[in-house]
Amino acid sequence: MKTALITGILGQDGAYLARQLLDAGYRVVGGMRRASSLNDWRLRELGIADRVELMAFDLLEQSNVTNTIRTLTPDEIYNLAAQSFVGVSFEQPVLTGMVDGMAVTYLLEAVRMHAPDCRFYQASTSEMFGRVQAVPQTETTPFYPRSPYGVAKLYGHWITVNYREAYGIHASSGILFNHESPLRGREFVTRKITSGLAEVQAGEREKISLGNLEAERDWGFAGDYVDAMYRMVQADVPDDFVVATGETHKVRDFVDATVAALGIDIEWRGQGLEEVGVDRATGRVIVDINRTFYRPAEVDKLLGNPAKAADRLGWTPTLKFETLVEEMVRADVDRVKKGLIG
Ligand code: NAP
Ligand code: GDD
Repeated sequence: MKTALITGILGQDGAYLARQLLDAGYRVVGGMRRASSLNDWRLRELGIADRVELMAFDLLEQSNVTNTIRTLTPDEIYNLAAQSFVGVSFEQPVLTGMVDGMAVTYLLEAVRMHAPDCRFYQASTSEMFGRVQAVPQTETTPFYPRSPYGVAKLYGHWITVNYREAYGIHASSGILFNHESPLRGREFVTRKITSGLAEVQAGEREKISLGNLEAERDWGFAGDYVDAMYRMVQADVPDDFVVATGETHKVRDFVDATVAALGIDIEWRGQGLEEVGVDRATGRVIVDINRTFYRPAEVDKLLGNPAKAADRLGWTPTLKFETLVEEMVRADVDRVKKGLIG
């Protein structure tokens, strides 16, 4: 039985990846930060909470990272732990730099010293393309990060490439574009929209407030994207791969698809910070724009080309944008009914 260590197992991707690895017969060990209460709702939703082994693990504590790898000697490590919210990275740039950048070296050093045959996956990101230098973005597109998060992840990416080249470690970096699901955190715009508007429809909230509606993202389904991670780690040769759908949509389109799935009819009125989405049936504003949610520097448009992942890993996305939105909406409507918004 192979052993996999997933850092960040309590996050969206950690939960889906844990399920995939358990289904493939792995022993799955998950690293989680100490918190005042256990936040394992995603593992419980997937019905795998009692099948994974959780251990106290903080990426910022080098001795903890080293001891974990030395004693576990896992066959595979998936480094998913991160301060993953771009907006917060402007408020906490140093912390983000340490967790998302520097701490990747703690892991790679521990692998080099104590588990050199262990395969390693680094969760890199399309946010590294930032102010994009080519459309669509591929593995050879130059990076131009636009947030402390993107800058930190760029370090994580390059240190992974460096340990592969310098020490022959089987280390791959997945340059994943945005991926969403019913298990997405509510601070990210997609789930903020589906959960917030489900609450509006149920009469539990007046409206939702958003920032830049014109930002465009290449949104895929998280379940598909963890499969791409797994395929990278199984590949004979480690490498870097763009994982994306090849389709892009505005935040505004995500709102429109959500209200369509909910059966609400809205009309957009005004422009910029004056803009509001009005429910035609009731005349009430249910979406408005708030400067708080704008970022000091924005990534305007992301669009990935996943051709290399298709050729070399046989990976293709399975869920279309509209279906993804519908599934997220269905899950949130259900949670609102049960009083379970998480
Ligand atoms: P997520 O839901 O925010 O999960 C991140 C996990 O990392 C959380 O469980 C968090 O712990 C944990 N973590 C944070 N700081 C830590 C620390 N110092 N030590 C140990 N664990 C720590 O993120 P996700 O969406 O699953 O994304 C997984 C990874 O892929 C992240 O590295 C993210 O940056 C990257 N990525 C995501 C996307 C996307 O669209 N989802 C795209 C490209 C790349 P708590 O549960 O205690 O908060
Ligand atoms: N979060 C949020 N909240 N974003 C908003 C809002 C809002 O109210 N209004 C507009 N947006 C815009 C943001 O400005 C951004 O352009 C876009 O919606 C997407 O924001 P997020 O959902 O927060 O995701 P992200 O693209 O910044 O980052 C996600 O994707 C990256 C991959 O490209 C995260 O998952 C990162 O961890 C990941 O690396």
